[in-house]
Amino acid sequence: MMIDRDALKRAAAARAIEEVEDGMILGLGTGSTAAFVVEGLAARVRAGLRITGIPSSERTAEQARRLGIPIATFAEYQQLDLTIDGADEVELGTLNLIKGLGGALLREKIVAAASRRLVIVVDQEKLVDRLGEHTPVPVEVTRFGWQRTAAALAALGCAPVRRYAGEEPFISDEGHFILDCQFGPIADPALLERRIADTVGTVESGLFIGRTSMVVAATTTGVEVLSPPPRTR
Ligand code: A5P
Repeated sequence: MMIDRDALKRAAAARAIEEVEDGMILGLGTGSTAAFVVEGLAARVRAGLRITGIPSSERTAEQARRLGIPIATFAEYQQLDLTIDGADEVELGTLNLIKGLGGALLREKIVAAASRRLVIVVDQEKLVDRLGEHTPVPVEVTRFGWQRTAAALAALGCAPVRRYAGEEPFISDEGHFILDCQFGPIADPALLERRIADTVGTVESGLFIGRTSMVVAATTTGVEVLSPPPRTR
């Protein structure tokens, strides 16, 4: 059966937008699912909703501006009420995430860390039993010495591949390279996140551990809302 993934993404976006209240400072995610969220928010803004968005990428900032959503930066607000963003993999049970196939992981993590709540919108294809099943862990690294950083990451058990955008190496909004690190199913994502962070030359990884407040997952049988386990830390 052919699955209309855009219809699923739209359905998840519509449910997530119900979490938005008047006056909120809102983190705006990046990617094709987050773009449906921004579209939906714009419709509510036109209907009178007052929100201020902090975009997690230049791409999202451009979309928000074009659709008339007021945006701001961390110069004005350091505490956000809610962020709605997509993800590349969601681990069932823990709701830990891999993000960053769209290249915005660093700004996304900064925005998520500044938010009281992080709501993740996905379609059913993103739900996995173990992170790393299908997706590499994107790691943002400084351009200087990236080969040395890649060698150090390889020692953690992966074969890092520098990301390209066409003929040229991909450069993030913050001016860094991204190394896609295929680990396979990850037994201890929190430990791996720390090991990557401890590797000199890395800026941030796409592992989002213990940050998710809610997942809105659109499946062919309906939209499911998933909650994380009670926090142990
Ligand atoms: C962007 O860097 C990513 O973290 C996205 O949130 C992620 O890639 C999901 O994108 P899609 O909604 O396009 O699958």
